[in-house]
Amino acid sequence: MRTDSGQIFRLEDYRESDYLIPEVELTFRLDPQETVVSARLTVERRKNVAPGTALELDGDGLRLSSLAIEGMPAAADAFEATPERLVIARPPSAKRFTLDIETRLQPSRNKALMGLYVSSDVFCTQCEAEGFRRITYFLDRPDILSVYTVRIEAEKKSAPLLLSNGNPVESGKLGGGRHFAVWHDPHPKPSYLFALVAGDLGVVTDSFTTASGRKVALGVYVEHGNETRAAYAMDALKRSMRWDEERFGREYDLDVFNLVAVSDFNMGAMENKGLNIFNDKYVLADADTATDLDFANIEAIIGHEYFHNWTGNRITCRDWFQLCLKEGLTVFRDHEFSADQRSRPVKRIAEVRGLRAHQFPEDQGPLAHPVRPRRYREINNFYTATVYEKGSEVVRMIRTILGEDAFRAGMDLYFERHDGQAVTIEDFVKAFEDASGRDLAQFALWYHQAGTPHVAISSRYDAGEKSFTIEIEQSVPPTPSESRKRLMHIPLAFGLVGADGQDMAFDTVEGAVVEDGVIHVRKRHHSVRFTGVPARPVLSINRGFSAPITLSGETSTDDRLFLARHDSDPFSRWQSLNTLFTEALLAATRTVRGGDEPLFASELVEAAVSLAANDTLEPAFRALALTLPGEPDVAREIGANIDPDAIHTARIALLKAIARAGCATFEALYAGLHDNAPFTPDAQGAGCRALRNVLLEYLALADESPTPAKRQFDTADNMTDRAAALTVLANHFGETQETRAALAAFEARYADDPLVLDKWFQIQASVPAPETVALMRSLMEHPHFSITNPNRVRALIGTFAMGNQRAFHSADGSGYRLVADTVLALEAHNPQVAARLATAFRSWRSLETGRRDEARRVLSDIAKHENLSRDLADIVERTLA
Ligand code: PHE
Ligand code: ZN
Repeated sequence: MRTDSGQIFRLEDYRESDYLIPEVELTFRLDPQETVVSARLTVERRKNVAPGTALELDGDGLRLSSLAIEGMPAAADAFEATPERLVIARPPSAKRFTLDIETRLQPSRNKALMGLYVSSDVFCTQCEAEGFRRITYFLDRPDILSVYTVRIEAEKKSAPLLLSNGNPVESGKLGGGRHFAVWHDPHPKPSYLFALVAGDLGVVTDSFTTASGRKVALGVYVEHGNETRAAYAMDALKRSMRWDEERFGREYDLDVFNLVAVSDFNMGAMENKGLNIFNDKYVLADADTATDLDFANIEAIIGHEYFHNWTGNRITCRDWFQLCLKEGLTVFRDHEFSADQRSRPVKRIAEVRGLRAHQFPEDQGPLAHPVRPRRYREINNFYTATVYEKGSEVVRMIRTILGEDAFRAGMDLYFERHDGQAVTIEDFVKAFEDASGRDLAQFALWYHQAGTPHVAISSRYDAGEKSFTIEIEQSVPPTPSESRKRLMHIPLAFGLVGADGQDMAFDTVEGAVVEDGVIHVRKRHHSVRFTGVPARPVLSINRGFSAPITLSGETSTDDRLFLARHDSDPFSRWQSLNTLFTEALLAATRTVRGGDEPLFASELVEAAVSLAANDTLEPAFRALALTLPGEPDVAREIGANIDPDAIHTARIALLKAIARAGCATFEALYAGLHDNAPFTPDAQGAGCRALRNVLLEYLALADESPTPAKRQFDTADNMTDRAAALTVLANHFGETQETRAALAAFEARYADDPLVLDKWFQIQASVPAPETVALMRSLMEHPHFSITNPNRVRALIGTFAMGNQRAFHSADGSGYRLVADTVLALEAHNPQVAARLATAFRSWRSLETGRRDEARRVLSDIAKHENLSRDLADIVERTLA
């Protein structure tokens, strides 16, 4: 484990390396206990670097067993090797020379899951961001691009399959029951994209012919017996390949594309060139074991990793400060892919909900950082919602500002100009400036300045002048180490909605640049005046969530209800109703804290019921509209002195109010939505199930009985319906015999299926009741709980800490202690996952004083531990600062 040295890496310190490594030849003699890695590096001194300049290679926990320079064993005083470094003080003065480095690894003992490790008897690697240095000494930085040739040797019986990046070259038998394979990747790539897999796996094969006629052999590798659960992933892969050709003109560039599912993985998946490695959660799916959300995630992540082939691999990052160059852009591409494959408005609403739930609290708390950070202590801690999701929003805004055609021209120029290079955000933005002739200097602040901008809006209609004026004021709240903010360029899509629901025309506009339905806010204050507006419009603003901001304004309830019914932009319809719900929940939370019973306006409750029944709208949209803001959404709006119990009580009260008012309507709808057609995972089927399952919760609450949920649980023919019913039972009827029986049946049925058992842990960890803390302690003793499997840890502890606001924030601090204990237990073998879990504490300052004190105490206790990993020390210290 890397303990913390406190070193901070700074963007302004970037400097080219003195040496390049154009070629790498690796030989792996695989053995779970002792693997020998022989690396032959061709090293090249850069022009202008003095001959003999010292060469310093990165390592992490390495053991050097031999070193040769130019083919000659190196004398003991010719180098200095520590686990962290290999320094050759006087390398050969030739322009090019070779190093032969032999290291020894213990893959079966690697529980950090970085570098070479073993997962369920399969050897695999994870090198992003700095895992390659756990395999061999290297210039382990993304601007070092090398052509790799990899030879893998292993026991044939336990590892019949030997994969690496690029194309297969050669394979054959060796003595002693061993065999080998050689792979060559002609595309120069950074070390973080290196990968190797060896083991005994089942496979689904297919092929894809690219637009220019290249035939690509496709393989999806999974545990034996899971082949049928890989069919959807293969289908998603082929659709991704076609889509990138059609939408971005990007073709695949190798003869093979392989994708491997492993069961121990720190993240979602990894885009290694030609050999994507996936968390099996994002590959395996069928009707019986995966929910609609799982199918949608698989499609999105398969797409995401595939799209990295151009945005990340062919064009990569100069340094890790540029992480959003590949991640923000690739998230944008996977969002567009899903939008094209499914319902665009529904996808957009889901994205915005995710952004607000994950990125906004990050941007508004102690861990806030710019989309392109300027400093880090541990790069693993910057794989954040800000880099990914806000990074994607920034690309989306570029498209909004430029329009579809100029955006595509900018992307084309970026690909053409930078193919084969390691570049920066400045290079990316410049491609759009050059392709469009527009100045994006002010806009680029979105990359450089942390914090969620706020826009305050007010408007007035002058009937005499037939003019409509919008007052717009922007502000950016201070964030850690950035107290003074500059003004942003914020593209606000809008419409002036007339009484008939259509957007009204206007004659002239002054006070801001307005083009194609977008107001370009660039100053602190704009007074935007429209003339020739025949009647008072209702303002619809930030349509489609054109900018990732918070908004305030005194829109009346009537206007919001009107927009919820009539806005031509479906996102805004959803947003209007959602804002009304949020406001109602804020008021109800205050009422609860004052000791009273909350009441809700009947017009709001009725709007929800009539929306549910509106069959001109697609079911998935109605499901989203009927889903109340979550408890954390309400907490975020309150902002300070938060009492999670009061929020919970208020939200249950609104659920019940809607349930009672809509009972008859919901029952009829619920029954009518059921069909006996076999399950298909497409968006339409998923939408119907989503609506039905939202209705199920309302029906159960209206009935005050577990019966409807129990019936659905017993008769469900797919995991979406089964898991949804179990969730309703666990959340609202935990004490009943029905719930206990359902939990036991589920556990027994899926005892041998880790991914489904994760759902069983997850459902129980998310029950918003104080008793959940005690239940957690016993679930952690369950024979199937494992602290070394990240999926299991995330399902149980991650869900509790990040998805159960009420129980995690139990007033006595017991939830905090449970999570802190787990963080420390994880820290010993997997600092990356430990640090991520610790971010659950990031909003501690906004709680009421009792909880705030408990959280501070728990965090300070973690901070006091000696020899904390760099990952955890970084998170805890920034959270406390
Ligand atoms: N680069 C991966 C992705 O977003 C994420 C990842 C980062 C995976 C670090 C593993 C380790 O697609
Ligand atoms: Zn990615």
